[in-house]
Amino acid sequence: MIRKGLSMQNLNQSLRIGSSASKLSNSSFTSQAAASSLLQVCEPSAYRKREVKVGQFLTRYGGEDEYADVDWDKLGFGLMPTDCMYVTTSTNDGSFSVGQVLPFGNIQLSPSAGVLNYGQGLFEGTKAIRRENGRTVLFRPAQNAIRMQMGAERLCMLSPSVDQFVDAVKQTALSNKRWIPPPGKGSLYIRPLLIGSGPILGLAPAPEYTFIVYASPVGNYFKEGRAPLNLFVDDEYHRATRGGAGGVKTISNYAPVLKAITRAKSRGFSDVLYLDSVNKKNLEEVSSCNIFIVKGNVLSTPAINGTILPGVTRKCIIEIAQHHGYKVEERQIPVEELLDADEIFCTGTAVGVASVGSITYKNKRVEYKTDSKSVCREMYSTLIGIQTGSVEDEMGWIIEID
Ligand code: COI
Repeated sequence: MIRKGLSMQNLNQSLRIGSSASKLSNSSFTSQAAASSLLQVCEPSAYRKREVKVGQFLTRYGGEDEYADVDWDKLGFGLMPTDCMYVTTSTNDGSFSVGQVLPFGNIQLSPSAGVLNYGQGLFEGTKAIRRENGRTVLFRPAQNAIRMQMGAERLCMLSPSVDQFVDAVKQTALSNKRWIPPPGKGSLYIRPLLIGSGPILGLAPAPEYTFIVYASPVGNYFKEGRAPLNLFVDDEYHRATRGGAGGVKTISNYAPVLKAITRAKSRGFSDVLYLDSVNKKNLEEVSSCNIFIVKGNVLSTPAINGTILPGVTRKCIIEIAQHHGYKVEERQIPVEELLDADEIFCTGTAVGVASVGSITYKNKRVEYKTDSKSVCREMYSTLIGIQTGSVEDEMGWIIEID
């Protein structure tokens, strides 16, 4: 039977490489074994000769070099296709087959796939980091696996086990190791994607799901780099509604905010801060990240109430702040509190910890502290330090994979 969700070309490749890829997933996964097996999987000769222009980057594939041919100083947050992606499809017993690491490329879907027609799709974001000592690490990927499972439950989808998810992330990172930026230049952003790939016409869960993990080297998310953000509070468009799916990472949470972001950017703002859709009164989150406000020794962030995404970085910052002696409150935050805050910052995997320099609400602009002594800077340095190895990982968040 033809595996749905893969083109014939990829299917042929997957058949050719299937046995080594299977070995990988079945093994207890030592990084050395993985790296050597993956070389066989990811080096079809036609693929090696590829040269791709994406935006300003001309990228040459192939070779045994430690690093891909990338100008690491120019990394932003744009897709740079890498060598490999991980793919697996659900089976009739409700689990997922052994995944395969395939050359990165297009996938083929039925026009009636659940994801295309009814938005049955979830994504995650996590990162692989190259440390000064040469080791490659992942940061709390199990948290993303758990969140994907919660999302799958909400959208009536099948999802991979936590172990399979984490293993897929590891395989994706290792098979794209050349694309992990040098220390201090960025990270490999890893994008796990779960889609209803099976065909469905009437409104119902898709009969089959495909789990794909791809990756791209990234630098700063915002074009501002690490400069403070200028946010616009939008009380017309909302990100999520009560009883909806704002609390899970479904793809359908993102298209509806594009209009608000586009409008805000055209007016010179960095991004949009949304309010609750019922009373237009309480803070929710920014388009792609959670928000914290700081007043004295207290950090507050909107409580997880069904419309707020339970961010992995949000959770880390809560734990770091408590560990550093701050009081952390997860609660409703009336928009008026913005007037009185010392600092505001955003958190997310893609965004990291980003300071906010100003917020504009109803034509009133409020400015915040963003200096080197800010709480935001302390949170940022600690999180980055744990990821890069300069701060001890007391919480056990780091997984060394190579
Ligand atoms: C992430 O932070 O990983 C996200 O998923 C946000 C996305 C809009 C880039």
